[in-house]
Order: sequence, then structure tokens, then C-alpha cells
Amino acid sequence: MAEAAGTGSESQRDTPLTVRGDVPRLASDVPHSARMWDYWLGGKDHYEVDRQAGEKAREAYPGIVDIARTSRALLNRIVTHLVSEAGVRQFLDIGTGLPTAENTHEIAQRAAPESRIVYVDNDPLVLAHARALLAGRPEGSTDYLHADIHQPGQILEGAGKTLDLTQPVGLIMFGIVGHVAEHSEALSIARALLDGLAPGSYLALYTGTDGDPALVEAERRVGEAGGTPYRLLDRQQVEEFFAGMDLVEPGVVPGTRWRPEGPVARSAADLASLSGLARKP
Ligand SMILES: C[S@@+](CC[C@H](N)C(=O)[O-])C[C@H]1O[C@@H](n2cnc3c(N)ncnc32)[C@H](O)[C@@H]1O
Repeated sequence: MAEAAGTGSESQRDTPLTVRGDVPRLASDVPHSARMWDYWLGGKDHYEVDRQAGEKAREAYPGIVDIARTSRALLNRIVTHLVSEAGVRQFLDIGTGLPTAENTHEIAQRAAPESRIVYVDNDPLVLAHARALLAGRPEGSTDYLHADIHQPGQILEGAGKTLDLTQPVGLIMFGIVGHVAEHSEALSIARALLDGLAPGSYLALYTGTDGDPALVEAERRVGEAGGTPYRLLDRQQVEEFFAGMDLVEPGVVPGTRWRPEGPVARSAADLASLSGLARKP
């Protein structure tokens, strides 16, 4: 397991970022989820192969852009809620994606600079960018774990080097559970992660759903283009992640409808996304 201090622009950062995990090969010949997501978000960190696969999906389903943007806006609302209303100061963000303007640590540390965040992803480009962009405030701590969601034990062990797992943690699973091929396995992984977290921890989840046949077709095209397929969930499957937990109002709703800050225009995310936040008793 490699462990290295980050080497990004020191002027923009107060503390170096620790990166844990084996440093993998950067494959630019196969479309990757994180880079296609970045393409749909209007970012610049993707390759031709990601643009081609991303464009095929967008032709089949232009709403994919809404689904991606809804995710980032929802992350902001949920993390702000957890810090400001629920007093959470630690976050484990699995399937982080490429850094954008408002990452979990920026949102959390704006309200509570002492917040600690561990990011987890298995994409080599996310790892490369993490070094430069995901470092946080000196009062808090930010760590990046290069790991696979299929290894929850390894994730908890790595996260425990930065987070105090006897205290509540906000577990963020946005756009990631569908990257686990079987629903039952995705559920077991989420339960294993939650079992390792203290009472009073939260699960925040956002996912694309099978509510719109056009998105189902778009995902089929991503798979056809060689990209990592995303398994779209139905409502019951989403609700199963929160079994035995205390769901925070308004419950399981499209990502756009979870405590919006103002009037919300109808968008693709109404039909083809679901989100929720729940507390571990
Ligand atoms: C759809 S993006 C979501 C990014 C971000 N969470 C968001 O909602 O904006 C999915 C992310 O999960 C990561 N991912 C996919 N499979 C994974 C796995 N097996 N283990 C860890 N991360 C994975 C991808 O690299 C990508 O960054």
C-alpha cells in the first residue's frame, strides 16, 4: 500500500493531503465513470474515449446532465444540513468523482473548519487530482483512499486512520451503489460500512433510477461503448438501504426534491433519480 503526501499547489492549501492505496495504471483507452461524469458536469478532466461514450449516452438521454448536476447540488444541501443541523463533523465520501468546485470538504469545512473527510474512489485520474485539489483546512483533516467499494473492511480500516469511528460519520454514497453489479451485494456493502460506524452516523444516498426508459437505454449504450455500467435502481431497492434507520424528512425523494432552497423547475432528475438521508439509531 503506497502512502504519499500530496504535491499540489501549496499556495491554495493549508495542509498536505495524505493519499493511501496502491497507485494504479491510468487507462485512457476505456471510458471511465468518473471522467464521463466530469464530461456531463461540464468539467475538463476526461479523454476522447470518455467524451465519445458520454455523448452516446447524452444523445439517448439528454437528461443525464441534469442527473449529474443534481448530484452536486444535493451534496451541498445534505452536507450543509449534516454539519449545521445534525452536528456531524466527519464524512466518508465513497465514489467521490473528480474534484469540482464544491467538494465535500469545502462544504463541510466552510461551516465547521475542524471537519474531517475521507474520500474513496478507484479511478486513477481521481487519485491524480486528489493530490492537487482535495486538501483541506488546517483545523480539520482530509484524506484520500484509493480503494474499491467491494472492500468495505479495507475502507473502514483506512478511514479509521483519519476519522474517529467511535463518533458519528456522514457516509456519502452518491452515484456509486449502481456500480455494484448485484443489488444484494450493494446492500451488504452499505450495511458493512454502517456497522463499522458509530450510532448517530448518517447514510446519504443518491442514485439514478429506472423511472425513465430513456435513461435505461442510455446506460445500455454506455455499456455498449465499453464503459462501466451503472445499474439503475427502483424505489423499493433505494428504500432497502435505509431499513432500520431513521429517515430524515422528506424521506426518499428525487434528488431535486430533497429540501430544495427555492422553487424547483421540473427536470429529468424528477423521474430518474432518488435520494435520501437517514440516521443510524
Ligand atoms: C457517477 S460518479 C459519481 C461521482 C460523485 N459521487 C457525484 O455524485 O458527483 C461514480 C464514481 O464512483 C467511482 N467508482 C466506480 N466504481 C467504483 C468502485 N468499485 N469502487 C470505488 N469507486 C468506484 C467512479 O470512479 C466515479 O468517480
